[in-house]
Amino acid sequence: MPDSPQSIETLDQLAAQALAELTGISDSQTLEHWHTTYLGRKGKVTLAVRRVGELPKEERPAFGQHANRVKQQLEAAYEERARLIKAQEMERSLAEGAVDVTLPGHPVLRGRLHPSIQTLRRILQIWADMGFQVYRSRDVETDEYNFQLLNFPPHHPARDMQDTFYTTQPDVLLRTHTSPGQIHAMRAYCPQPIRVVLPGMCYRYEQITARSEIQFHQVEGLAVGYHIRFTDLKGTLTDFAQRMFGAGRKTRFRASYFPFTEPSAEMDVECILCHGKGCRLCKYTGWLEILGCGMVHPVVLQNGGYDPTIYSGYAFGMGVERIAMLCYGIEDIRYFWGNDLRFLEQF
Ligand code: DAH
Repeated sequence: MPDSPQSIETLDQLAAQALAELTGISDSQTLEHWHTTYLGRKGKVTLAVRRVGELPKEERPAFGQHANRVKQQLEAAYEERARLIKAQEMERSLAEGAVDVTLPGHPVLRGRLHPSIQTLRRILQIWADMGFQVYRSRDVETDEYNFQLLNFPPHHPARDMQDTFYTTQPDVLLRTHTSPGQIHAMRAYCPQPIRVVLPGMCYRYEQITARSEIQFHQVEGLAVGYHIRFTDLKGTLTDFAQRMFGAGRKTRFRASYFPFTEPSAEMDVECILCHGKGCRLCKYTGWLEILGCGMVHPVVLQNGGYDPTIYSGYAFGMGVERIAMLCYGIEDIRYFWGNDLRFLEQF
């Protein structure tokens, strides 16, 4: 039961209290709470107005009119407050979300090419300048292409030079060198003359040491045509070495052996650190070995579809990481696939 009899005065007191509370409200949640408390279906003002029946009959119309005015006044004050709060909240959210354009940004980490790829691209660019096209061939090979067609007969001891990763498929393996690409290129171009370089990853089942990795890049080269001679090989490779390691760089050719070339050679360049005087890099020889090469073996020409009595050619193969190591003074080949940013970020 109501504590005091209903009257215009008590209603005014309630309204004054409501208005006083309203002026202290600054967020819409509290504002909604206020509206429910006073003007809601069971709000204090609403209930107070309903108690009109407690008044003597003659006072009721005046009370009713007054109550309506009070309710309108409170509703208007509520609307006004709501507008104000909405504006304030908008301003606050704009201020909070404001972007300070003078703040330094987050540095964007830029990726870059792996040192192997940088070196590979330099090598390919030089060969492109010299008129060699890039020919890409597969990483997964057959024993036939990786060995037999390159004149490595089954059980030939030269196979021991390249320990091999075999797959679960019989005679399917990861190429141990880019040389099988020579056969693919010859079979693709025959009987036209060829001048290609074949870049790619090679794989060998070896103990990983500072000098040898189980994966590495090679760039193979192949020229097939009429009257191609060893002097063409020497001249072209010497030109390459000078473009790669600097004009005037001396080269030398040492006789060697590969089953797919005859004669075969290895090319050394004058040490890029000591210019031939002898240092740690060249093990005091003054020379650095950078590639194997030779005249394409007649059997290999034939396997590629070229008649060795009409055509001749030369081939070469170089290790990209080895050349990168020489160029940048990298002492351990394991850095290349070690994924250590301190190494990679230097290039
Ligand atoms: N395939 C050889 C190797 O991986 C490198 C090589 C030597 C390639 C002589 C050639 C070449 O084309 O003529 O060791």
